Amino acid sequence: MGKPLTKKTLLKHINEDVISNESSNQALSAVWQARLSRRSLMQTGTALGAVAVLPTAWLSNEAQAGVFPRDNIGQAKHLGFSAIGLSSQDTVVVPKGYSARAFYKWGDAVGLVGRMPAFKTDATNSAIEQSFQAGMHHDGMSYFSLPMGSKRSDHGLLAMNHEYVDNGLLFKDGAANWSTEKVRKAQNAMGVSIVEIKKDAHGQWQLVRPSRYARRITANTPMSISGPGRNHTLLKTAADPRAETILGTMQNCANGETPWGTYLTCEENWADIFTTRTTPTALEKRYGIGTKDEVYRWNEQDARFNTSATPNEPNRFGWVVEIDPYDPQSTPIKHTALGRFKHEGAAVTLAPDNRVVVYMGDDQRFEYIYKFISKQPYQPGNRAANKRLLTEGVLYVARFNEDGSGDWLPLVQGEGKLTAENGFADQGELLVKTRMAADVVGATKMDRPEWIAVDPYRAGSVYCTLTNNSQRGSEGKPGVDAANPRAKNLFGHIMHWQEKQGNPTAGSFNWDILVLAGRHDTQDARFKGSMKGAEFGSPDGLSFDHRGVLWIQTDVSTSTLNMDEYAGLGNNQMVATIPGSNEFRRFLTGPNGCEITGIAFAPDNKTLFVNIQHPGEPKEGDSDPAHPQAVSSWPDGPKGGRPRASTVVITKDDGGVIGS
Ligand code: FEO
Ligand code: CA
Ligand code: CA
Ligand code: CA
Repeated sequence: MGKPLTKKTLLKHINEDVISNESSNQALSAVWQARLSRRSLMQTGTALGAVAVLPTAWLSNEAQAGVFPRDNIGQAKHLGFSAIGLSSQDTVVVPKGYSARAFYKWGDAVGLVGRMPAFKTDATNSAIEQSFQAGMHHDGMSYFSLPMGSKRSDHGLLAMNHEYVDNGLLFKDGAANWSTEKVRKAQNAMGVSIVEIKKDAHGQWQLVRPSRYARRITANTPMSISGPGRNHTLLKTAADPRAETILGTMQNCANGETPWGTYLTCEENWADIFTTRTTPTALEKRYGIGTKDEVYRWNEQDARFNTSATPNEPNRFGWVVEIDPYDPQSTPIKHTALGRFKHEGAAVTLAPDNRVVVYMGDDQRFEYIYKFISKQPYQPGNRAANKRLLTEGVLYVARFNEDGSGDWLPLVQGEGKLTAENGFADQGELLVKTRMAADVVGATKMDRPEWIAVDPYRAGSVYCTLTNNSQRGSEGKPGVDAANPRAKNLFGHIMHWQEKQGNPTAGSFNWDILVLAGRHDTQDARFKGSMKGAEFGSPDGLSFDHRGVLWIQTDVSTSTLNMDEYAGLGNNQMVATIPGSNEFRRFLTGPNGCEITGIAFAPDNKTLFVNIQHPGEPKEGDSDPAHPQAVSSWPDGPKGGRPRASTVVITKDDGGVIGS
């Protein structure tokens, strides 16, 4: 952040940090102070009119799976835990009265019957073994009760993403002696895990292994294509001439879950895996595909990732993928109707007429916020029909006006300038070029939209983390605007919008800023936080629990952690707030070199699952394979060999509700 793009920045979220949006959408004038102060009015409910009631399906028990709607078990009025301090300890710290335990670590067997290879601490597991084990770099995650349709909080499935890999940890000799076997192992360390978990006789969560639900989905798992991209010329390849089957998903970042009990995994930095041997096309450039890849290097062994050989292969990535965790034989589906970009997450809600609305961020500097509205309504009890809901609908992109209003601009081929003459011959082409279509309609360029969360107690009230944007206002780049009010925005902010009439299908909304993240001890307005309580920066993961508490997870880049403007802020962390209180309270701090990301609550809100991603990540380059514990030895300690991304299960020692 704030430094030249070197290999160290390349190693992490490579392209989320750079810019490929050169479109000339106008910046708005800075009136952000007004937007912040409107917040207090909002809380009274008077500024934006009456808040509508929740859609009927939210209030019924008819959703088929335990994950959705949120289990409204009683709204929190205040935060009940004792704040913890900042930390630079190589461990997970939680408040007094809580316990945290790592229990699904990179390399642990996922639990396939007859295929449960043990993790080798010197990273000598084979590519095949890795395909039966937890992937690396855990990210977004959802909990699904077992049996399906129950609200059980003692037995369920966790579906989770494995976002990327560190070749220094994945292989005993790191990236030396590069080979097809190494590429296959890396491909098998990305994707998704489905694991079965259950409380034992002592009330402790354990993995159930073997399990008939256990599954690993990797960068080579066959998936089908739905929506306007299916059978489209731009998705056809020599290996798939009808554009019906794509191999794999990768760079799976955040997530979502549907009312019918399926998991949504989002493809974020997929463009980093592709290279072209020639000059990038305009489309490749707009999505950040370049001529070299010194980090992943799959293209050296697998021509699929060299676009000079397979020009349409990248068009088959950048989608939201739906997975049915209850059916391990099911084929994942890439839903092209939801658009193609660097998808961060997919926050699902229902409109009063039961149409499905999905909010999504495109995480790169100066990219956009989107929403999808399904054509057909959710039908309680008709799971087969519901599983087709994301195949058809309208995609919109957000424009944040400087007066605090906002508009959802439809991305529909043939409307306005979205015509064949402008490069959008049909809806399929438009969706492959989603970012370019959004440029044409004049969407607002944001400071890296990460997660989005929908308030379970306030209809049409939505929050989005804008993690940071060091380039805002720098020479030749867009300046500040009302929704992105700080130049050199190193700490990020959290945006809030209220859909008109509380209806998520509305065409317009009112917005304000929940909080400017930052520090208390600075006079520099660019870095000063607007919150009471916990200082934090680079908000990323964002989720409501079942009591309406909003949880914020931070992803300060390891190149910046504890340095410069972040000096003294320690490791990445998780804080909680009740919207409207402006109080932010620190609940968790992570081990060295990690990011906190991925969050799920059991329906009774008495178990919190959190993912610790990339513990031990160095400030520059891959981890050193000769000294893998240079930064961290979490969670296994010095005898464990190397740091391992893990799921952490957090409970209250008295068995009570998390956060109460
Ligand atoms: Fe994978 Fe934008 O976080
Ligand atoms: Ca993220
Ligand atoms: Ca991030
Ligand atoms: Ca990150």
